[in-house]
Amino acid sequence: MNVAVIGVGHVGLVTAATMAKIGHNVIGFDIDESKVESLRNGIVPFHEPGLQELLTAGMDSGSIRVTTDAADALSDVDVVFICVGTPRREDGSPNLTYVQSAAAMVSTHATRPTVVVEKSTVPVQTGERIRQALTLQAQSRGQSLTHDVVSNPEFLKEGTAVEDTLYPDRIVVGADSAAAHEVMRRLYEPQLAAHDCPYVATDVKTAELIKHASNAFLATKISFINAVARICEATGADVETVADAMGHDGRIGRSFLNAGLGYGGSCFPKDVEAFIHIASDLGYDFGLLRETERINREAKRWPIGQLRRMLWNIGDKTIAILGVAFKPHTDDIRDAPALDVIDALVAEGTTVRLHDPVALPHVADRWGRAVVLCDSAEEAIRGAHAVVTCTEWPEYEKLTPAQLAEWLEFPVVVDARKVWDPEALAAEGLNVASVGRQLLG
Ligand code: UDX
Repeated sequence: MNVAVIGVGHVGLVTAATMAKIGHNVIGFDIDESKVESLRNGIVPFHEPGLQELLTAGMDSGSIRVTTDAADALSDVDVVFICVGTPRREDGSPNLTYVQSAAAMVSTHATRPTVVVEKSTVPVQTGERIRQALTLQAQSRGQSLTHDVVSNPEFLKEGTAVEDTLYPDRIVVGADSAAAHEVMRRLYEPQLAAHDCPYVATDVKTAELIKHASNAFLATKISFINAVARICEATGADVETVADAMGHDGRIGRSFLNAGLGYGGSCFPKDVEAFIHIASDLGYDFGLLRETERINREAKRWPIGQLRRMLWNIGDKTIAILGVAFKPHTDDIRDAPALDVIDALVAEGTTVRLHDPVALPHVADRWGRAVVLCDSAEEAIRGAHAVVTCTEWPEYEKLTPAQLAEWLEFPVVVDARKVWDPEALAAEGLNVASVGRQLLG
């Protein structure tokens, strides 16, 4: 089938590359000339394992190309994915201007009836809005609407986005016509033949809500275990053992029960906020999600409290921060909890020595001289009064308690991502605040 993807950012590019991989002819469109230029040269402009290989294979075989020309992108396509950004407005609601522009583009340039698929995370009822926009555009030309609107939310995680898209837990397709369902079924047929997974065919609004509910639930799971972590710290219980034992209950499951610095990234913070907003617009106060957010804010402040507890004043200290990406295996710093930690330290006048294996270029101009960017974890830690882990990069696990004890000026470790074994650190004479554990040392 002929597939167009409007917006080749993280979600769009992964969608384009995997659609090409399963045998479709794909054209990616973006208004950002430099992004398209980079892709034309075969270069993925962000860090996502496996995507570069997939893009190169698709380009070499001619099954994927990119353009900034809307007419070129939308002539003769069966399916158009809308994968544009939905940045949050000041009041927490998502800004859907780009989604509307994408719909207008389809209306203007599509040369035959197509299925317009919303893939961007959008509020429930956006499908209806897209249909309305397409209808108005058609009416203004004296025509009636010929395009179908479908909601096909993605559940990809950064760092495993290619795998999540090629081998999903489920495919959700919301459409309001049998014909659109038929087209989507044909689109996914090659993928379903290679990887059997539930295919949930539903109406547009239900599909939109599945996305909201899934992300909000996962964020709530994280906040729940972070709240439990606070109780563990106060009582001497061990949050990891609690989570492991809870996870053995098939009804609960172990995933997304890792206590830590709270959730960040381009999805959870924005999606939870948007869901609260949407619910409120619909007359429902989603207090549970407001609490999820409050606990997440508290989780991001946790390291500062621990530093104060162990160091007293922190404004005159040097603190090593390990990791700034919102999670390992990505260079993405959008809404990364580490940013809140560093902002708070910088506001105190603390000197910060920061290391991250891949994300440092994205913070190069953010704090000026208050934050020293370091080429290695050792460089960050040497001479610092304390070290704080903000992203659980595997390479940090390899640092030994003896190395930390030798490099640090004061023997203080704040392990916000449970990178190290607190007992082993304490045995080396270090004072340790590890999330969900009583203070050791
Ligand atoms: C998420 C959803 O998982 C995905 O389905 C959706 O499509 C987009 O948003 P992503 O943002 O890539 O994906 O990251 P994810 O792996 O879900 O982690 C989000 C945040 O939660 C990270 O900051 C991570 O560190 C944190 N997290 C995750 C925890 O603190 N504890 C956990 O147990 C799991």
